[in-house]
Amino acid sequence: MKILITGGAGFIGSHLCDSLLELNHNIVVVDNLILGKLENINHLIGTNRFRFIEEDLLNLDKLKEIFKENSFEMVYHLAANSDIQKGGKDPEVDYNLTFKTTFNVLQCMKEFNVKKLFFASTSAIYGETSELLTENFGPLNPVSNYGAGKLASEAFISAFSATYNIQTWITRFPNVVGERFTHGVIYDFIHKLKSNPLELTVLGNGEQNKPYLYVKDLIEGILFVYNNSHEQFNVYNLGSYTRTKVKEIAQMVIDEMGLNATINYTGGDRGWVGDVPEFKYDLTKINRLGWEAKTNSNDSVRIAIQKALGE
Ligand SMILES: NC(=O)c1ccc[n+]([C@@H]2O[C@H](COP(=O)([O-])OP(=O)(O)OC[C@H]3O[C@@H](n4cnc5c(N)ncnc54)[C@H](O)[C@@H]3O)[C@@H](O)[C@H]2O)c1
Repeated sequence: MKILITGGAGFIGSHLCDSLLELNHNIVVVDNLILGKLENINHLIGTNRFRFIEEDLLNLDKLKEIFKENSFEMVYHLAANSDIQKGGKDPEVDYNLTFKTTFNVLQCMKEFNVKKLFFASTSAIYGETSELLTENFGPLNPVSNYGAGKLASEAFISAFSATYNIQTWITRFPNVVGERFTHGVIYDFIHKLKSNPLELTVLGNGEQNKPYLYVKDLIEGILFVYNNSHEQFNVYNLGSYTRTKVKEIAQMVIDEMGLNATINYTGGDRGWVGDVPEFKYDLTKINRLGWEAKTNSNDSVRIAIQKALGE
């Protein structure tokens, strides 16, 4: 298939490029590199069946030109804001990068008759609740602008899917970790410890407890859902039942770096406003479809630390 991957120069998007190219698809990446990096896809540039276009999805005229020139059969829409704290300080960030990019992609899909869409969604759409999160949990009250931007995106995708007959696969990721990550708790801890190996300041009380998923498992899960779920509108949580506390991650990073740093906690039950300190997915739906993550949360974290230190 001829496939557009938005955000393909980012952490997850670049792994998706690798896997879809291995499956012999033709890939066009559109990314403005606002958060992604050329080094994530440098190994692909110049190879057969891969093209990188540096462009802002918010430029609708340019995006239409790209759709016009390429007869895409499917879009994997991954471009979004991944700096959730920045989005909390300035609501325009998620309105534009998380929501409006989606809306522009949908407009182009409608105009140029592209009938298949994958969308990278998130646990953040569920908001803050101690309940087990099934795909049909509600009401959905996100507590971050990022979560709101993703939920609004899902709503328009649902409407476009029904109105313009676009078959859709949405997967809601947990925290994803692994090679080429550009952000997140492990990334932060490693950078802080590189600048001060004696002390690590952790945002919150360290008790935040979430599932972490290794990026290679995630990509396998995305492709599994696409190949095995055939409704018009397909929605799945992706992850594992295992979780890791932030204080455990801090200790793992210190150990893997061979340091003896003290850990200071800023206190409070969350790292920042909009952070959800705990959540737990119900994975019955994806497990019944036949997929389970190979790597548990703690191992995903450890692999990600080791890969980051080895890179
Ligand atoms: N990493 C996670 O833990 C996680 C969890 C849940 C959901 N997700 C979702 O998965 C997707 C990929 O996330 P990631 O972790 O790889 O983040 P990332 O920041 O590495 O990738 C996002 C990419 O989108 C690009 N982008 C953003 N705005 C753009 C615009 N206006 N025009 C063109 N390109 C633009 C960025 O440059 C970047 O390369 C995102 O949609 C994210 O919301 C990620």
